[in-house]
Amino acid sequence: MKTTISQVPKYEGQVVTIGAWLSNKRSSGKIAFLQLRDGTGFMQAVVAKSDVAEDIFQLAKNMTQESSMYITGNIVEDKRSPFGYEMQVSDIKLIQEAVDYPITPKEHGTEFLMDHRHLWLRSKRQHSVMKIRNEIIRATYQFFNENGYVKVDPPILTGASAEGTTELFHTQYFDEEAYLSQSGQLYLEAAAMALGKVFSFGPTFRAEKSKTRRHLIEFWMIEPEMAFMDHNDSLEVQEQYVSFVVQSVLTNCKLELDTLERDTSKLEKIKAPFPRISYDDAVEMLKNKGFDDVEWGVDFGAPHETAIAESFDKPVFITNYPAEIKAFYMKPDPERSDVVLCADLIAPEGYGEIIGGSQRIDDLELMKQRYEEHDLTGPAYKWYLELRQYGSVPHSGFGLGLERTVAWLSGVEHVRETIPFPRLLNRLYP
Ligand code: 4AD
Ligand code: MG
Repeated sequence: MKTTISQVPKYEGQVVTIGAWLSNKRSSGKIAFLQLRDGTGFMQAVVAKSDVAEDIFQLAKNMTQESSMYITGNIVEDKRSPFGYEMQVSDIKLIQEAVDYPITPKEHGTEFLMDHRHLWLRSKRQHSVMKIRNEIIRATYQFFNENGYVKVDPPILTGASAEGTTELFHTQYFDEEAYLSQSGQLYLEAAAMALGKVFSFGPTFRAEKSKTRRHLIEFWMIEPEMAFMDHNDSLEVQEQYVSFVVQSVLTNCKLELDTLERDTSKLEKIKAPFPRISYDDAVEMLKNKGFDDVEWGVDFGAPHETAIAESFDKPVFITNYPAEIKAFYMKPDPERSDVVLCADLIAPEGYGEIIGGSQRIDDLELMKQRYEEHDLTGPAYKWYLELRQYGSVPHSGFGLGLERTVAWLSGVEHVRETIPFPRLLNRLYP
């Protein structure tokens, strides 16, 4: 019977064959312990000299890291391993012997690992992070499908900038200039007027010269947009969504969280509602914590976000930022036009801003005024004004950065480990 490591628990007491690679090995005179991986999981296989032909025992004993094989044996319970099962090997068919695999079980430097990202992905730690990433995506589709959202796919090649013009990747679109999308939001607003509640999940690009543990040049964003929902309605969706994702990861990624030695007691607390503080309060809080560089009107950086997050054990919404430092499309607070109806959601434990969202301007005249202030002209933006002309309604939306969320839930320091092939300031390969 051919199966995979993930299916092994179904075959206790039976003989199965698995296609696998050798991730590590330990052996003595009479026994070899092979650490197998097959993509679906990791498992130990035990080869006893007394149980197999001499050539099979020699093959097992001398097998090199990352050699590939079909391996056959009886599945037995193994209470000592977190996986719970191991294989008592009866036969091995070598597919390829791997010679001099560069990533050995010893420590390697980050640059070396990044240069070998195509192989580094095979490690148990990277495997766990990718599985958690996958679970966040799966739970995202489940949450939005169950709540009546339609998935729509905004274009990647665009003529309009959604988040300011300084961080655009320019490209040639035949005779015209185009950009790689920074956010699907403008198109999602159009889609929400057609379909009510929509969400997208796709790659976004920012030519940011930031070299921090939270910034990627290419990252993936989940962007819901909802017609007839105001700022507060949107905050409720956000806290429900994030809680659902965190609880799904806790339920479905136990082995992976264990491999990563993630402190799950911190994640268990992540349940809606989340605390909310205004930008004004955040400024006061930071002054009280001794930040001399903070005064009303400045944007917050990573140290500020971390300092605010320290006071909470759940993600915290910072609401109503100054209009000056936020995007052109955000709706001013009707009671105070110097701030906008927006919020950033700051993750606990120093993982920074994971969501940016807002209620959008729905008034045609005000949007025209913003266009003038921001010098937004031409066909790239004309259509967006028409959304305010034909049956404009209150609407809100937000964007969750997938990689920062993966970093937080996995407990990994740097976003470079949260995407299969990170694009960083100085890295386009592999
Ligand atoms: O706050 P941002 O720029 O918001 C928008 O793009 C809105 N148009 C979204 C919307 O309302 N539909 O980005 C949203 C999130 C951030 O909170 C952060 O998690 C992530 O995207 N993000 C990045 N992640 C990794 N690397 C970068 N360079 C990122 N820039 C933003
Ligand atoms: Mg933001």
